[in-house]
Amino acid sequence: MNKKIAFACDHGGYELKDTIIKWLKDNGYEVVDFGCNSTASVDYPDYALPASQAVARGECELGVLVCGTGIGMSLCANKVKGIRAACCSDTFSAKMTRLHNNSNILCFGARVVGAGLAIELVRNFVESEFEGDRHIKRVEKVMAIENIQ
Ligand code: RB5
Repeated sequence: MNKKIAFACDHGGYELKDTIIKWLKDNGYEVVDFGCNSTASVDYPDYALPASQAVARGECELGVLVCGTGIGMSLCANKVKGIRAACCSDTFSAKMTRLHNNSNILCFGARVVGAGLAIELVRNFVESEFEGDRHIKRVEKVMAIENIQ
């Protein structure tokens, strides 16, 4: 069965929204759309949080969050327990963060990458799988940090 992908953007990422959702659907992914729905100014945490929670709860397998830079979205996503969000603007990193970090959310900026690169970032992320093996204990150590104050 194909993966269910949580998508969210703010006004800074909105211009790439339709392109990304169309690519995901055309390639057999189910998309849960957490907004936003226009270029009107909004606050990215309001969109990053519900999408990240859907991934953390297992309602969606992976997430794609887009703002102006990708940074605000990734800051928010990484504050949600269970999330490993990676802000990427190159395809190698978008792939490797699945293979080695088992990242479950990809973030990028619509003011940083164009539509063509955005699709390749998404493709490399959703089509790659965690390699496990020696990376398991490292990811476990990353997640253990959630419980340290
Ligand atoms: C909005 O202007 C912009 O700050 C936002 O999209 C994002 O880049 C924040 O990290």
